[in-house]
This record gives sequence, C-alpha cells and structure tokens, in this order.
Amino acid sequence: MRVISSPRKMNKILLEEKMAGKSIGLVPTLGYLHKGHIALIKRARKINDIVAVSIFLNPKQFSAKAFRKYPKAPKQDLNICKAEGVDYVFMPNAGSMYPESFDSSVEVPQLIGKLNGNSIRWHYRAVLTVVAKLFNIIQPNRAYFGKKDPHQLALIKRMVLDLNFPIKIISVPTKRAKDGLALSSRNSLLTPEEREAALVIPKVIKAAEIKVKGGSTDRKAITKTMTKMIDGVSSVKLDFVAVVDADSLDADRFGDDTLIYVSVFVGGKKLTDNRVVNSSRQSRNK
Ligand code: PAJ
Repeated sequence: MRVISSPRKMNKILLEEKMAGKSIGLVPTLGYLHKGHIALIKRARKINDIVAVSIFLNPKQFSAKAFRKYPKAPKQDLNICKAEGVDYVFMPNAGSMYPESFDSSVEVPQLIGKLNGNSIRWHYRAVLTVVAKLFNIIQPNRAYFGKKDPHQLALIKRMVLDLNFPIKIISVPTKRAKDGLALSSRNSLLTPEEREAALVIPKVIKAAEIKVKGGSTDRKAITKTMTKMIDGVSSVKLDFVAVVDADSLDADRFGDDTLIYVSVFVGGKKLTDNRVVNSSRQSRNK
C-alpha cells in the first residue's frame, strides 16, 4: 500500500496504472474510518484491479467549529486500509487541494436546495467541488458512496451525468450498530447518555417506515409524527425530517421509492439516517 499526499503525484501514478489497463475504484472519505467505510472498501476491492481510498478532512464543507471537533485517527485509518488490501491512500493537505488562488466550485442548484439543503448550500457545494477534484486527480472507473447520505449521493450522481464524468457511481447500503444507530465517525463524540438518546433516530425511521409501508400517502402527517417523537427527547434537537420521492427528493411526487430522512443534533453533534422504502412494500437500504 502506498500513501500519497501530492495531488499531482497521485494523478501521475494512477494514470500510469490506467494506461497499463488496470481498473480503479475510489472510496472518498473524511477519515476516522469505521465499518461503514470498510463496507465501501470491500465492495471496491471485489471488482477493481486498484483500490484507492482518499482521506481528506475537507475544511470547506465544515463550519470552523465542526472542523476542529471532527475526530481524526490517521494511523488507525492507514492500518484499516492496509488490512482491507487498499492499494493507494490519497492523503492530501488542505494547502495542496486549495492553494490561495483557488476559486472554482461545482453546484447543482435545484437539487442542492432539496432536503433542507437551502440552509447549507455551501456545504453541498464544497462536497461536490472536492469530489470533482478527487475524480479528476484519481480518474477512477468506479466511485463508491454510502446510502447513508442520500442527498450527497443524489447530487454526485447528477453532477456525474451533467458534467460527463466517465465514472460509475456505486451506492452501498448503510451499516448500523446492533441497536440500530447508523455508524458515523461523529458517534465517537457522543457521551453514553447522548448515544442512548440518539436511538430515537432509528425509532423515528421505523415509525415512518411502518406508515409508508402501510400505504399512507399523507407525508405531512408522517413528518408531524416524526417531529413529535424527536421533540419528546429533551437532549435531541430536530434539524430536519422528510418523507419524499427518493429520486427527485420532491415531497409531492410519488415514484417507486420513498425516502425517509432524519437529521438531528445530539449534544450539538449532527446525526443523520434514512431508509428507502420500495412501493412494493419492501424496505431497501437495510
Ligand atoms: P464520510 O462521512 O467520511 O463518508 C465517506 C463515505 O462513507 C460516504 O459515501 C458515506 O455515505 C459513507 N458512509 C458513512 N457512514 C456510513 C455507514 N454507516 N454505512 C455505509 N456507508 C457509510 O461523506 C463524506 O465523508 C464526504 O462528504 C466526502 C464524500 C468524502 C467528501 O468530502
């Protein structure tokens, strides 16, 4: 396994691998790897000749405070990558990704505004911009993203189509702890009490799922129930809940799949989870 920090060097090495006929799978991450990330790496390892993992805590997609607080464990991350048979870890520093003259950004304005994106357009713009940069540096044949972040996934798929990136986007189901809480690097920041309180998230999703599967199309009533459940736990602050069409993220469209989405703050830490329910009444994204 090679660890590369220079974008130019990473680009050169992987272009050579591609010229030699090797396929490349990319798993972009912010680091502090857990079993969710590992599921993505394992999927990539299955069919690509070369697996590259990027570990870059992208400062532009965080507030200054959230950036400072984000957990970091580079040595542990490298051990995990090695154990999973990763070929290249791309670990750039912020200066090499964003030199002072840096001025570009990628936006998918209509879709960014969906799912509460309006309040944090800058965040999704920063995610798309860094992912576009990673795509250009690494030039993967396939890139792997978690269904844990459905808005991010939808935006990246849109960007890839709109901007003709010759990359296949593979989405991977969410990994959860035994008690149902979705794995997240931020979970490590929770106190035991906060972690206990956070279990309201899977409960809220389950309650909504039962209603959607039961045939309810009154999405306003469902989100009201979800909000009430969250408001019932004093240490959990509602950020956003949604029940929308999974493809368009529109609340007034009824396609094949319905996305149930929950975003809350627990002790100031943002936690999100979701589930996609198929209209054939089978839950996906398990
Ligand atoms: P990060 O939060 O580190 O997540 C990296 C990838 O792992 C994302 O595609 C995310 O959806 C996926 N993931 C996170 N938790 C998961 C879980 N419990 N089960 C399955 N997959 C999970 O998302 C980002 O980083 C960044 O925004 C990034 C795309 C790297 C751009 O900076």
